[in-house]
Amino acid sequence: MASQTHDIGAAADFSPGGLHRVEVGSRGLVILRRGEEFYALRDVCPHQGARLSAGQLSGTPLPCRPGEEITYGRVGEVLTCPWHGWEFDVRTGQALANPQARVRTYPVRRAGERLLIELS
Ligand code: FES
Repeated sequence: MASQTHDIGAAADFSPGGLHRVEVGSRGLVILRRGEEFYALRDVCPHQGARLSAGQLSGTPLPCRPGEEITYGRVGEVLTCPWHGWEFDVRTGQALANPQARVRTYPVRRAGERLLIELS
């Protein structure tokens, strides 16, 4: 099937660190901005279907000993599902703790001030 390009809005409307839901046709997507890079993932968790756009963009806890302060790695690269806390790499959609689980991702590119997404 051929891919189609869709204009999803002005780049300035997608604030860094925010989770922005957009709908393209019948598909709900979550758009994330990290600096000047944009990512698009299907807005459905593969576990039980929560909207990932209602989740949290953060990092993942790093290993520590009991009583130690929790620190986070990969800050800004991990999208956490709001229902049961599954974590996904925003660049690939891969679940961090489950190699079998993945969220579909879509390429986003900038054309001037607009953001374009490729859907197949
Ligand atoms: S629905 Fe996302 S972790 Fe359960």
